[in-house]
Amino acid sequence: MATRKTVVRKARVGDYSRCLPLLTSLYHGDIWADFKNTFESFITGDSSVVLLAQSGDGVIGILIGSYQMDIDWEGKTARIDAIVVDEKHRRTGIGKQLAHYFITLAEEQRCKAVKSRVNRKNEEARKFHESLGFARVDTYEYVLDFS
Ligand SMILES: CC(C)(COP(=O)(O)OP(=O)(O)OC[C@H]1O[C@@H](n2cnc3c(N)ncnc32)[C@H](O)[C@@H]1OP(=O)(O)O)[C@@H](O)C(=O)NCCC(=O)NCCS
Repeated sequence: MATRKTVVRKARVGDYSRCLPLLTSLYHGDIWADFKNTFESFITGDSSVVLLAQSGDGVIGILIGSYQMDIDWEGKTARIDAIVVDEKHRRTGIGKQLAHYFITLAEEQRCKAVKSRVNRKNEEARKFHESLGFARVDTYEYVLDFS
């Protein structure tokens, strides 16, 4: 059986509908009215990017990332805002390919570090980040929710 080649590339605005099944699984269906616009703003923005892993017509992996000035780092840092790989394709190196692509972009943007937030109960994501060389930093995140 011929295996389909996986291509990792930057997303285009028209990719939203083919990304939706995977995004829906990542957010457990918790996707609201502003989501499409926000997702497309990440694609078109100067300080953000969406990367896709595509196999045939299907999207099997997505990374949403951004770059921001960071006073603690005295310069710019990059952040992985979301990463997800289709369950059937996990542990085949897709997540790593997406992350490496983003790390290369962050270096090109002269970022001083790449950050990523992982829920402490998410064992697979913790292992994944550790395998890429990320180190855990001990900070709490506080939020003031306007909604
Ligand atoms: C985390 C996630 C993106 C990893 O994607 P992936 O394509 O399966 O990861 P890779 O195949 O590139 O794995 C790279 C390395 O990470 C580590 N790793 C990944 N998943 C792991 C798991 N479930 N258990 C242990 N180690 C794991 C391994 O060291 C692996 O290398 P190996 O397979 O050669 O041992 C994927 O599990 C996922 O989509 N999870 C659900 C969404 C999520 O939790 N996102 C992260 C939120 S921050």
